Amino acid sequence: MENKVYLNGEYLPLSEAKISVLDRGFLFGDGVYEVIPSYAGQLFKLQEHLQRLEASLGVIKLDFSYSLSQWLEILTPLLNAEKDQYIYLQITRGVSAKRDHAFPLDVTPTVFAMCSDIKLTTGVEKGIKALTMEDSRWELCHVKATTLLANVLLRQEAIEQGCGEAILHRQGYVTEGAASNLFAVINGVLMTPKKTAEILPGITRQVILELAKNNDIPHQEDIISLAALQSASEIWVTSSTREIIPVVELDAVKVGEGVPGPVWKRMSQLFQEYKRAI
Ligand code: PDD
Repeated sequence: MENKVYLNGEYLPLSEAKISVLDRGFLFGDGVYEVIPSYAGQLFKLQEHLQRLEASLGVIKLDFSYSLSQWLEILTPLLNAEKDQYIYLQITRGVSAKRDHAFPLDVTPTVFAMCSDIKLTTGVEKGIKALTMEDSRWELCHVKATTLLANVLLRQEAIEQGCGEAILHRQGYVTEGAASNLFAVINGVLMTPKKTAEILPGITRQVILELAKNNDIPHQEDIISLAALQSASEIWVTSSTREIIPVVELDAVKVGEGVPGPVWKRMSQLFQEYKRAI
């Protein structure tokens, strides 16, 4: 049976959900989104995802707000309690009367949500190859905006070169992946770039930092130079849909022993236990 999706107050089969060509999401990428995992029908870190959504809406000056209970009411019918899934949720500025860069007056935002199964096969156990690339994105990377052309081009370049992710850098220091945050074990310390407008404040990143703190794993949020990354004994990329993926080869050079490392094994286990516990 075809999956139901949510669009502007209605539940429809995916193939029947339609939006106008004048929707500003379509014309300008004028919208924000969230990707929220759901384990056995329970949305993981929903409040944190909704707080980030609210922050993204604030930066793009989109006046829209639903309460936690309103979101739960909307999203719960999309979930299947027997599966691990993720909700894709998007809000755009809505449908304008004509194409004009300036915000239209009196428009209703478009709200869309759909649910897909999480398939964690790619790379989790064996690790992936990654390629470093100049971060060609804009200056508001802390906003989870649907305007993802730079991310798409960077990820595609990595894929065409046989890699699973692009690791981005600006002026000699690393920021994050094309669709993930970055961790590296450098001189025995688990490092991740600090939260700035140059990275998305990932929810998975936050969980990992909490787990590191609660389990006495030495960790630090700091600037990571490209040279330091190249000397790392472990590198991971993290996201809601791919969880924690070890990078075993960076720019065709082995990371550590060229296999997922001991800190990754420990964190991966802690993460799975944490997920199942809540
Ligand atoms: N992306 N950085 C970027 C640029 C991302 O696109 C993502 C996730 C992350 C990780 O954030 P989180 O842990 O909250 O998922 C970091 C989602 C999964 C996507 O665009 O599909």
